[in-house]
Amino acid sequence: MKAVLGCVSSLYVAAAFLGPQYRQVPSFSNGLTTGMRGRRQLIVSAADGTSGSTSLERETLRFLNPDTVENLANQYGTPTYIYDMATLKASARSALSFPNAFGLTVRYAMKASPNAAILKLFNNLGLHIDASSGYEIQRAMRAGVPASHISLSSQELPSDFDSFVDLGVHINACSISQLQRFGERCPGGKIGLRFNPGVGSGGTGKTNVGGPSSAFGIWHELLPEVKRVVAEHKLQVVRVHTHIGSGSDPAVWQNVAALSLDLVREFPQVETLNLGGGYKVGRMRQEQSTDLAKIGAPVKEKFEDFALETGRKLHLEIEPGTFLVANAGALVCRVQDKTSTSAHTFLKLDAGMTEVLRPSLYGAQHPLVVIPKDRTRADRAASYVVVGHCCESGDLLTPAPGEADTVSERELTSAEIGDLMVVEGSGAYCAGMSTKNYNSFPEAPEVMLAPDGALYLIRRRQTLEQALQNELDLPTSALA
Ligand SMILES: Cc1ncc(COP(=O)(O)O)c(C=O)c1O
Repeated sequence: MKAVLGCVSSLYVAAAFLGPQYRQVPSFSNGLTTGMRGRRQLIVSAADGTSGSTSLERETLRFLNPDTVENLANQYGTPTYIYDMATLKASARSALSFPNAFGLTVRYAMKASPNAAILKLFNNLGLHIDASSGYEIQRAMRAGVPASHISLSSQELPSDFDSFVDLGVHINACSISQLQRFGERCPGGKIGLRFNPGVGSGGTGKTNVGGPSSAFGIWHELLPEVKRVVAEHKLQVVRVHTHIGSGSDPAVWQNVAALSLDLVREFPQVETLNLGGGYKVGRMRQEQSTDLAKIGAPVKEKFEDFALETGRKLHLEIEPGTFLVANAGALVCRVQDKTSTSAHTFLKLDAGMTEVLRPSLYGAQHPLVVIPKDRTRADRAASYVVVGHCCESGDLLTPAPGEADTVSERELTSAEIGDLMVVEGSGAYCAGMSTKNYNSFPEAPEVMLAPDGALYLIRRRQTLEQALQNELDLPTSALA
């Protein structure tokens, strides 16, 4: 195979005459290496009947290499999440350069990946925190984030929210009832208002959190009621907040920035406009990522125009989650079984919705990279349906895009039982959002890869004892 790969151009010409077993495939001939995107060359279909090369472009590793993957698996077992510190730092720096007219605060939407090591890293780089629950607030504070650097936008206002306010946490009321409760406990206090501006946009219907079908934020037409509650409790509205979805369309996001400025006009004391997160990140090679500099520039101009018109120089807040961590994380797992039907060959992983739920939930696409035990197999390709280890037909790593229920095949490096598999793009909404402990599988460990190549364990693998520790026996009498 190597010889074939070495004479790309002549074979490319020959291929036209040789028939369909000679196909054009990407140049990352072993399916493993990074940095070779875009070049194309030929491989010859395997003649042994076990695999057939096709023209689909295979995904490659992002920040790992096959040796690191093997070391990680040997040291910590599988499945294990791994995060790349260099990528985390680079994405934080990029977010901190978001265009702004009169000052910027970047809040990390910690729901994306709440491990304390990641919170500490971002805290050290000057990022603040967007929390979604009282528990997230406490988690951030335990990681050393000052309370005054945390803001809460939550579907469920914690019952003791006023104790967080006393510590300096900023609250965004996300419903009229939250505003009313805040007013009752903190009359005269400073509050932010999360609005549903009437439009939303997300990568999927399940990640769209704006518009009339979304329960997030105060519906913009309820402004008179908002003003009534604000007046009743003499509240100071100092912040307006909008977040319309994850993986949102940049054009819609920019439009919402303008709508949000209109909401700011309604509250003369507002100093800060928080435009949320949702910046789309391409996980699969053909997907585009949002260029923050590009989408931010016109919004900066809008802030400047607003200042010229009103004399008010608004501080900008953004709160990305996905953008900061999605491609800085991967899940390393193992092919633990392989089975076929008349329709498909299935690879069964020793991971699944217990670690990476997004495909089952949204039909989200994650790059899958096989690291064959025998690296000479790396040139072979085959199409598989990749499934997880849970007793759920929905535990599927290769759904059709956006269709969680539809089984689809993916061309991968030819895989055998025992091979390692890397699920790329697993930094956001994976370790923090999974069906952990379903089928009693323990929570997988998390490891940080430092720029010098050192691996640091940042969460241990859960034991069965830990998974069961809160269960209590029924009294024998109750069992009778
Ligand atoms: C209020 C709020 N801000 C920020 C985010 C982060 O979104 P993303 O991870 O798409 O950037 C979310 C995600 O759900 C959110 O609800």
